[in-house]
Amino acid sequence: MLETRFCGIELKNPTRLASGVMGVNAGQIIRVAKEGAGAVTIKSLGPMERQGHKNPTVIEWEHGLLNAVGLPTPGYKNADSEFEELKELKKIGVPLIASIYGTRWKEFSEVAEYVASKNPSAIELDISCPNTEWGGTQFACDPAMSYKIISDVKEVTGKIPVIAKLTAAANSPIAVAKACEEAGANAICCGNTMPGMIIDVDAKKPILSFKKGGMSGPALKPINLKVTYEAYEAVKIPIIGEGGITTGRDALEYIMAGATVCGIGSGIWKRGTGIFNSVSNEIEEWMKENGYTKIEHLRGIAHE
Ligand SMILES: Cc1cc2nc3c(=O)[nH]c(=O)nc-3n(C[C@H](O)[C@H](O)[C@H](O)COP(=O)(O)O)c2cc1C
Repeated sequence: MLETRFCGIELKNPTRLASGVMGVNAGQIIRVAKEGAGAVTIKSLGPMERQGHKNPTVIEWEHGLLNAVGLPTPGYKNADSEFEELKELKKIGVPLIASIYGTRWKEFSEVAEYVASKNPSAIELDISCPNTEWGGTQFACDPAMSYKIISDVKEVTGKIPVIAKLTAAANSPIAVAKACEEAGANAICCGNTMPGMIIDVDAKKPILSFKKGGMSGPALKPINLKVTYEAYEAVKIPIIGEGGITTGRDALEYIMAGATVCGIGSGIWKRGTGIFNSVSNEIEEWMKENGYTKIEHLRGIAHE
């Protein structure tokens, strides 16, 4: 009923662990896979070791999370042992999506070449992180820059599908989606967090040490859902809908907008790592009640 084919990869259900929310620890990713995620994504891996920002890096507010973790990474040259541990995912039968970033456009293909040698099921390019001193969203705000990164990465990744992670903060996320498709991206993710800020009135200061952050969770859902809906009409490649999915009904909204896969990150803060199983069960219940037998029959149905 929930089996999903995405870029030639078979998923038991359409949920995937979004990048970064479970930290850099391979053990936690394996746990999420065992607890029912259809696919899992690693924390974005960068070109060189980096500590990330000082605490506080993540805060919860009324409508979700605000984070500026700052892309901490061991750097790809130190990631062999993590990939070794992640081999266990093959036994569990849950596809691994590697996520990578660069601080300059050329670094994406450098990291992608290393990651491709580890043979993940797909590689996601975080061209849209808002929380860095090099202003990471700039890549996915610019269709020409996005095109350049995707086509450069495609030269070194062979048959491994490449996913471009977009941001609703772009002037036209749809122009970026089209540029990524033209450059050879096999899928897009709609999308990353939205830049934001929260000030502690009593301290008279922004709460996060980096001051600004990326907003995720329920407040992000209508924003990324709209991008998913519009992208479905603009590109032919499959879409990962992501942002604010906490329940099966949230996931169904993204599927009806046109998503093939539903990314879940902040929802783990609310419902724990069992959320993937719970969301799958809730989708299935809704389908049974409404007479649907295959999830793909619902994909894009809100456009009809
Ligand atoms: C604490 C935290 C860390 C994150 N780290 C990354 C990251 O390393 N790479 C990335 O592409 N996205 C990262 N994200 C963004 C998530 O993968 C996801 O796209 C976003 O949070 C929206 O989904 P959600 O509302 O379900 O959390 C991070 C989000 C959070 C909350």
